[in-house]
Amino acid sequence: MRLDRYLSEACGITRSNAKKALHRGDVTVDGVVIKKGDTQITNQAVSIDGQLLASPAARYLLLHKPAGYISATQDDAHPCVLRLLPAELHRGLQCAGRLDVDTTGLLLLTDDGKWSHRLRAPKRACPKVYQVDLIEPLAPAVAQQFAKGLELHNEDKPTLPATLEQLTPTRVLLTIQEGKYHQVKRMFAAVGNHVVALHRLQVGDIVLDESLAPGEWRHLTEQEVASI
Ligand code: URA
Repeated sequence: MRLDRYLSEACGITRSNAKKALHRGDVTVDGVVIKKGDTQITNQAVSIDGQLLASPAARYLLLHKPAGYISATQDDAHPCVLRLLPAELHRGLQCAGRLDVDTTGLLLLTDDGKWSHRLRAPKRACPKVYQVDLIEPLAPAVAQQFAKGLELHNEDKPTLPATLEQLTPTRVLLTIQEGKYHQVKRMFAAVGNHVVALHRLQVGDIVLDESLAPGEWRHLTEQEVASI
């Protein structure tokens, strides 16, 4: 897509205002000031006045995932989360990170593969915050064990340092920096406890809105998209 059209669609401005911004030198593409409106944009990072723009073509959604839905686009056993979104949004949409079928809370979906990759890249260590309900009261040593890192069955490396905040004897907030298979459940199993309910509240700077009921969704804001 031409840069002037990209700017007009991403910022909701007229093509002539987009051209004026280009002439003023307000626009950068991959960090370089570009003044030509006919520059072709594919996957580059486009900023105006230092603000990174979300691609006008890409979609970024936040869903309050209810229990019983699977974080996939197709499954024979359970309904998929896509069912909760309008059909016109389905094309190309993928879950950016998964939640177990019985886990509830913040699930991100996008058709922007690079963004999804950045979100999940182990090097970036994007923090994820979970509210965890346990069958047994939290043992005193667990916060320290999680902070140090745990050896999990079938994993070659220990877990990265995780932080625990105790809310009640059996309810905690856990922040982890990675997303190994069933990680939260396996971490608590490794210290002799058992997760009875798991709810994701936050991924990076993106927070689940209290006003979104299970099954409801919204588009991410430009700021949220740019935060990843
Ligand atoms: N950890 C789990 O065990 N399950 C999830 O759904 C997410 C993190």
